[in-house]
Amino acid sequence: MTPPPYAQRRAILAAQLGKDGIAIIPTAPEQLRNRDAEFLFRHDSYFYYLTGFKEPNATLVITGDGQSTLFCAPKDLEREIWDGIRLGPEAAPMALGLSAAFSMAELDAQLPKLLDNRRVVWYPFATHKGLETRVASWLGNVRARVRQGALCPDQQRDVCALLDEMRLVKDASEQHTMRRAAQISAGAHIRAMQTCARRLREGREVREYHLDAELLHEFRMHGSQHPAYGSIVAAGANACVLHYRADEAPVRDGELVLIDAACELDGYASDITRTFPANGKFSGPQRALYDLVLAAQEAAIAATRAGARFTDPHDASVQVLAQGMLDVGLLDKNKVGLLGDVIEKRAYFQFYMHRTGHWIGMDVHDCGSYLEPSELGQTSERKDALTGERIINRPARILRPGMALTIEPGIYVRPAEGVPEQFHNIGIRIEDDAIVTETGCELITRGVPVKADEIEALMTGQV
Ligand code: GLY
Ligand code: MN
Ligand code: MN
Repeated sequence: MTPPPYAQRRAILAAQLGKDGIAIIPTAPEQLRNRDAEFLFRHDSYFYYLTGFKEPNATLVITGDGQSTLFCAPKDLEREIWDGIRLGPEAAPMALGLSAAFSMAELDAQLPKLLDNRRVVWYPFATHKGLETRVASWLGNVRARVRQGALCPDQQRDVCALLDEMRLVKDASEQHTMRRAAQISAGAHIRAMQTCARRLREGREVREYHLDAELLHEFRMHGSQHPAYGSIVAAGANACVLHYRADEAPVRDGELVLIDAACELDGYASDITRTFPANGKFSGPQRALYDLVLAAQEAAIAATRAGARFTDPHDASVQVLAQGMLDVGLLDKNKVGLLGDVIEKRAYFQFYMHRTGHWIGMDVHDCGSYLEPSELGQTSERKDALTGERIINRPARILRPGMALTIEPGIYVRPAEGVPEQFHNIGIRIEDDAIVTETGCELITRGVPVKADEIEALMTGQV
């Protein structure tokens, strides 16, 4: 069996801290939802990446010499009756391969000792409420002992800068988990599509929450712990609201349904959008725009490969969408000009106002700089065509094998003067998750069909 990857990740991080460095990485806090009811606990992704430890109330400390110390909830038989078994500091070093472990109650006493004789303290900046203040207090404690010979760190640095780079390239075990999450999510989309058409055929009511329930059923039946983000199930015009949530609107025969929903599995997200006709058959105008978005996605996929820039898939999809908007009459060339003008003046923004993708991994909008680190000094300036704002450009990230990103173009047509009525209130997005390879990319979410004919066949029971 492959050993867990956590000790190796800690060693890689430790080697970057410098021999006088120390890193402090807490897990997430527990969060109240209302009164005394809590949200389901979700660990902090950086902390989990380095420990695989899912309990709340814990902090990891790593030093440049490769020692790892965990602070965690102490064993407490009374509390464990209510909240569940705790690993506890006695068992943690062996179970997690750590150098030492203490109770969280000892954090304030131990941290000044661990900080003594270090020069640089690393922690996640602007991530954990109150952490900066606590670090300051631990440093103050060390400084109070300088006359006794204590050496206090004189530099603070953001450990996310190191961890973001590590997390950006997914190792084999991460890719494996992401593929499994993607497969479950794809199955959930199929289930929602088929249920929608079947209920309408049977003359039964369909509301957005019915489809949300199908998604959740499939996620949980396959062991997913939680949706990776708030599910969007948008019937008809609701699809034009980008951050719409599954609500109670009726899903009507003849409308499109946009579902942007996917599960988290063992700490890894997936992210899928499909747009389908509620009754299983696209109308002419729906199909025209659907095929356009799909062509834009295909262009973006073709531009996703090692050596390309992160912005290349977006630029490729914008080219196709903008030309398509002119071709189908969403944009009037007598008013906005030809393709070059549409792109330069961002006229397509009326119908396509988001980017074509984002990193994906432990977090659905995963960490990692979108700029190429070796080219940060190469700046240029431009004026935004719509806002007039001056924007500093830096070269976009160069894609490398193992990076994972979504590819998700769309078109959202709000009724407006000059916009052909047949397209009013159509909102379409198609989203897949890709892992970059040497020669292209692997689409890990294609367990759910994407071509219009295939969606129709699936929904009308022909497959
Ligand atoms: N579901 C979130 C996104 O597509 O970015
Ligand atoms: Mn996405
Ligand atoms: Mn999405």
